[in-house]
Amino acid sequence: MKKLFFIIFFLILSSNANAGCDDPIADGVDYSKCKFSDGQDLQGTFLPNSNLSFASFIQVNFDKSIMMNSDLTFGTFSESSFIRANLYESNLGGLLKLDGFEISFHEKSKRIINIKIEDQIIDRLVFPFKKFNITALEYKPFTRFTIAKSLDETASNKLSNFLNEIIKDRDTGCFIIGPKNNSSKIDQTFLVKLSTAITHLIGNPNHDSMAGKYYARFHVKHEDNSDSYLRKAYINMDLHTDGTYVREITDWILMSKLEEENVIGGETALLHLDDWEHLSDLSDDKIGQQNFIWGSPKSKNIDYKVEHPVFSKDSDGKPIISYIDQFPEPKNMDQGLFLQRLSDALEGSKNKIITSLPVGSAVVANNYFWLHGRKPFKENKNLSRELLRIRGSFFNN
Ligand SMILES: [Fe+2]
Repeated sequence: MKKLFFIIFFLILSSNANAGCDDPIADGVDYSKCKFSDGQDLQGTFLPNSNLSFASFIQVNFDKSIMMNSDLTFGTFSESSFIRANLYESNLGGLLKLDGFEISFHEKSKRIINIKIEDQIIDRLVFPFKKFNITALEYKPFTRFTIAKSLDETASNKLSNFLNEIIKDRDTGCFIIGPKNNSSKIDQTFLVKLSTAITHLIGNPNHDSMAGKYYARFHVKHEDNSDSYLRKAYINMDLHTDGTYVREITDWILMSKLEEENVIGGETALLHLDDWEHLSDLSDDKIGQQNFIWGSPKSKNIDYKVEHPVFSKDSDGKPIISYIDQFPEPKNMDQGLFLQRLSDALEGSKNKIITSLPVGSAVVANNYFWLHGRKPFKENKNLSRELLRIRGSFFNN
């Protein structure tokens, strides 16, 4: 029997999900989230009833293999071959099925998963969410885990795993989640609790110094006299990552739209690093790998500066980015010109995803390989949008 060779294992999510990454090929093996070396010849292998969800097989030859009744959902099979493979009753669907959740790919990118929460789930959340008021969630961090568990239980405890798989997978890394329908049960308090529950299935929130809490709520309005682009409605907020100027690890971000009125424009802009035309050009540049100094304006309430490069590498050696236009303080001409080139190359990308986030929905993204921004709003004196943000680290960080 041919032997599989594994490049790496992901030892992150549920305790038993990856237990079998180095098991020999057999009936019913669990290779979920495993990555196999490229170009292997696995012709004629026997692995029926196996879990290959989220697994990665590049240029692998599965011709004449027996893979019946296996789960291949969400796998990466670029240039792999399945000629005369037996895939009878295998699940080739791209996405998990969860009762009460409508799960689909985003209409503009398969890297973004849409998760719409149906009314029956919202109804089941009302009671456990009422158990704690917002003050309790702010003052007693353990209560946030209680409501997070309630959310997971509405999905037979499968939501947590699913969200973690999406957000940690380099191929996806982003989901948009929110109630499918509006109802009187879904007010802003409910949405704060829902966002809290979602994030506490992924990791711990960072203290948001701007708000002095684990989350920040803020308005974007017609008038603004703040000192950052965050609330400047009529100026493009360029693509960036969060947490560039703080010491805390910022693995993920959640941005939730609590309400909006008189809004035209202001769409969310998103760019996955691997879709960016200039990635290798900029990430291979030695200047981008140098330490930059990052400060922040007064409203951010951070009284220190940090140093880090714009580009570094993840554990797979793939480039990751930590960048925002306003806060790096270039030390010299080389750094200044590099940042200008980077800014132009990001804003000039044709692969940005421009999307309107529905009121009540949250976009949750991996902060290492997704950049986010906002298009300008159309001028309106009565313009108002309220947003909530939570940023944090994964539980295993
Ligand atoms: Fe941001």
